Amino acid sequence: MAVGTAVIGSLQFGYNTGVINAPQKIIETFYNETWHKRYSEYMLSTTLTTLWSVSVAIFSVGGIFGSFSVGLFVNRFGRRNSMLIVNVLAFIAAALMGFSKLAESWEMLIIGRFIVGLYSGLSTGFVPMYVGEIAPTSLRGALGTLHQLGIVIGILIAQIFGMKEIMGTPTMWPFLFGFTFIPALLQCALLPFCPESPRYLLINQNEEAKAKTGEFLILKLRCFLGFLQSEMREESRQMMREKKVTIPELFRSSLYRQPIFIAIMLQLSQQLSGINAVFYFSTGIFEKAGVSEPVYATIGTGVVNTAFTVVSLFIVERVGRRSLHLIGLMGMAVSSVLMTIAMALLDQVKWMSYVSIIAIFSFVAFFEIGPGPIPWFIVAELFSQGPRPSAIAVAGFSNWFANFLVGMCFQYVEELTGPYVFIIFTIFLLIFFVFTYFKVPETKGRTFEEISASFRSGAEKYTQDDLNTLGADAQL
Ligand code: GLC
Repeated sequence: MAVGTAVIGSLQFGYNTGVINAPQKIIETFYNETWHKRYSEYMLSTTLTTLWSVSVAIFSVGGIFGSFSVGLFVNRFGRRNSMLIVNVLAFIAAALMGFSKLAESWEMLIIGRFIVGLYSGLSTGFVPMYVGEIAPTSLRGALGTLHQLGIVIGILIAQIFGMKEIMGTPTMWPFLFGFTFIPALLQCALLPFCPESPRYLLINQNEEAKAKTGEFLILKLRCFLGFLQSEMREESRQMMREKKVTIPELFRSSLYRQPIFIAIMLQLSQQLSGINAVFYFSTGIFEKAGVSEPVYATIGTGVVNTAFTVVSLFIVERVGRRSLHLIGLMGMAVSSVLMTIAMALLDQVKWMSYVSIIAIFSFVAFFEIGPGPIPWFIVAELFSQGPRPSAIAVAGFSNWFANFLVGMCFQYVEELTGPYVFIIFTIFLLIFFVFTYFKVPETKGRTFEEISASFRSGAEKYTQDDLNTLGADAQL
């Protein structure tokens, strides 16, 4: 229940990622008509492209700020209460977006997207942290993947609701955006019944009694109490020697430099794979590829996306993070080459539109095998309790920044490169494949402590900064 409730935050993130895809034309018409009412002229098409790109990408600007602020919340209010508090943002955003048509203001829609972006940025820090901390080691990858499953189900719901038969119409679209209200309400009702992260209570707060209640609930999830306790004890002992680590310290200390670099690269590999070019703009891409019902093809991507996240959920503890990430990146690279060939030959060979659908589906499927779920939860695994909040903030920031770049630039780059736009992503995918092959360790089945110890032994020599970070105890 605790994980299920937490990932409602992931669902909100996914929903608001997917919601602007299908109704693009309808909302552009709303922008244009509002503009006409105000200024007695229609927008230039370039102004409309810009305004639409801003509406899409402002969400990730919110995400950038939100993800970077994770540390301000989690250490002060705890993991669970942080998730609870930030629902205020979801309510405000739902109201702004839901009433924007009534108020004839596209500004309200854009500001609402920014605020729900803030919420989503915070959630992408809170949820993997909370889930990682309450999960037993043997299930950490599978439960961590539920964050991504929440996201992809959110995207799928948004795509289905966006159909013209449901809410994708000129009168109904405000409800499509106002829907955010409902998951927020549900999460507020359920979170008070969920336990605080016992790791947070025991290690950060040292409230052993409360931590035990939390552990008791985990026990109900068939976790081994004694084992988990001793694992946390070890971490706790480690924490006594390890001060809370700030963001600049993450980069200064050779202890953390390697894992933070890996965390950032994995996040970049997720976003610069080009996945959100599909989730933000697939309806337009399918249209260009000559698909007659692009909205249905878009829903197809959502279905494939969800199905393969479930596949990953079941195999991640067996196959491991590293191998799945490698398979995913390579599969995406091959699919994007196929997609480019299909797009380039479209004028000569009509059935290439089917090839492009297959290529996009396999691009998405491979994404969910590894690059979708893994970067989100692996950051919590690569760091122990002290540096974890700062590391998650930095990683989240990198992810959202790259998300912003893709959302903002894709349409412009596509105008310049035509059918070859995905080649750029192919190049990135190959670079990240090589990086993962040489640099990313396997974290499957290892405790947080074991993972961070492996980086400690990897750091050849401690600098004075490291010794300061570790504290006087370690110097002795
Ligand atoms: C990941 C990405 C997100 C993307 C989604 C697609 O969660 O972080 O940006 O939209 O996967 O499934």
